[in-house]
Amino acid sequence: MRKIKFFDTTLRDGEQSAGVNLNLQEKLEIARQLERLRVDIIEAGFPASSKGDFEAVKQIAETVRTCSVTGLSRSVRSDIDAAWEALKGGAEPRLHLFIATSPIHMVHKLRMTPEQVIEAAVEAVKYAKRFFPIVQWSAEDACRSELPFLAKIVAEVIKAGASVINIPDTVGYITPKEYGEIFLYLQNNVPNIEKVSLSAHCHDDLGMAVVNSLSAIEHGATQVECTINGIGERAGNAALEEIAVALHIRKDYYQVETRLNLQEIKRTSNLVSKLTGVVVPPNKAVVGKNAFAHESGIHQDGVLKEKTTYEIISPELVGVPSNSMVLGKHSGRHALRNRVEELGYTLSDEEINQLFVRFKELADKKKDITDDDLIALIFEEKFDH
Ligand code: KIV
Ligand code: ZN
Repeated sequence: MRKIKFFDTTLRDGEQSAGVNLNLQEKLEIARQLERLRVDIIEAGFPASSKGDFEAVKQIAETVRTCSVTGLSRSVRSDIDAAWEALKGGAEPRLHLFIATSPIHMVHKLRMTPEQVIEAAVEAVKYAKRFFPIVQWSAEDACRSELPFLAKIVAEVIKAGASVINIPDTVGYITPKEYGEIFLYLQNNVPNIEKVSLSAHCHDDLGMAVVNSLSAIEHGATQVECTINGIGERAGNAALEEIAVALHIRKDYYQVETRLNLQEIKRTSNLVSKLTGVVVPPNKAVVGKNAFAHESGIHQDGVLKEKTTYEIISPELVGVPSNSMVLGKHSGRHALRNRVEELGYTLSDEEINQLFVRFKELADKKKDITDDDLIALIFEEKFDH
C-alpha cells in the first residue's frame, strides 16, 4: 500500500487564524501531542517572522525526536539563514520554501516577472541545499497559476535540489476534479517528477479542503498538509482528523496507509481547542461533541441493537470513550430504559411505560433531558403514588 505522510501545520498556518496567539509553552505542548499522534512532519512556525516564532521553532526542533520538524521561509537568504539556525538541532531538519506562481500574485504582490520568480526560486533552493538535507518547495497560489508555467518552475526547482513539491490551494478556490488534474498534469509534464514527493495543501474557503486533499491523494500526492480541527487563515485549512479517518475507514477505496496513532485524535483536538480558544462546532466530523451522539428513537434503537447500524466510525478509534445517547423529544423507550438501567434503577415494564409518557411531556418543553431530570422523574414515578 502507498504510504501517505501527514504534514501538520497547526503551529504555522493554524496559528495564522484570526485571534489565535500561542505562547512558547503552549506551542511545545501541542508539538509533544502531535508527536504522540505520530504525524510525520511538524511545521513549527516561520522563524524569520518574529523572535517568538524563531524561539518556538528552535525549541520544538530540539525537543521533538520522532517527527521531522520544519519551518516556513520566503525565497530569500536571510529567511533561510534564520530557519537553519532554528532547525539545525532537529532530528531531521527540513526547510519549507515558498514563492507565489499565479499571475495575480506575481503581478500585484511580488511585482516580479515569471522569469524573475523562477530565478529567485532556483537560487533559494540551491542556497537552502547547502544546509538542509530536505527542501520542500511550495508554489503559493498554485491553483490559480498557469499550468505550463507551474510545470516549468517545478522542473527547475527539482533540478536545483527540492525533494518535496507542494501544490497549495492558497485561497481555497479549486474543485476536487481540477485539483486532481493538476497533480496528473505535473506527473505527465515534469521531468524527474517521480523522484520527488508531491504534497497537497488546501484551504477551506469553499468548504472543499478535505475533499480536495483526498482527491490529491487519489491522483498521486503522498503528503497532505493539514491542521488540527481545520484551524487556519480565513476559513481554515484541511482538517487532519477528517482526512486521517476518511483514509482509515475507506481504506478499501483509498488503498493507502499512514503512521498516525488515531487514538490520539480526540485528545489532540481538545488540546488545540483549549489552547487556541477556537471552539469545535458540535456537529464537526470526527471530533465534534455530537459526532457520536444519537438522539432519535429509531437511531438509538438501532445502535443499541447493533452499533454499525448508524456508526461508521467507532468512537474508541479516535480516543472517545464511548458513544452517547442524548435523551430528547425524538428518543424512544429502548434508550430510556437503557439510561434508567445505567443510572442503577430497575423499573417494571409498566413503570417504564408511565415514565416514558412523563419523559415525553418534559422533552417537549426542554431540549435535552439530563440525568438529574430523569432521576427526578423516576422518583415521581416510583415513590409519589
Ligand atoms: O496556503 C499557502 O499557500 C501556504 C504556503 C505558504 C504553503 O500556506
Ligand atoms: Zn496555507
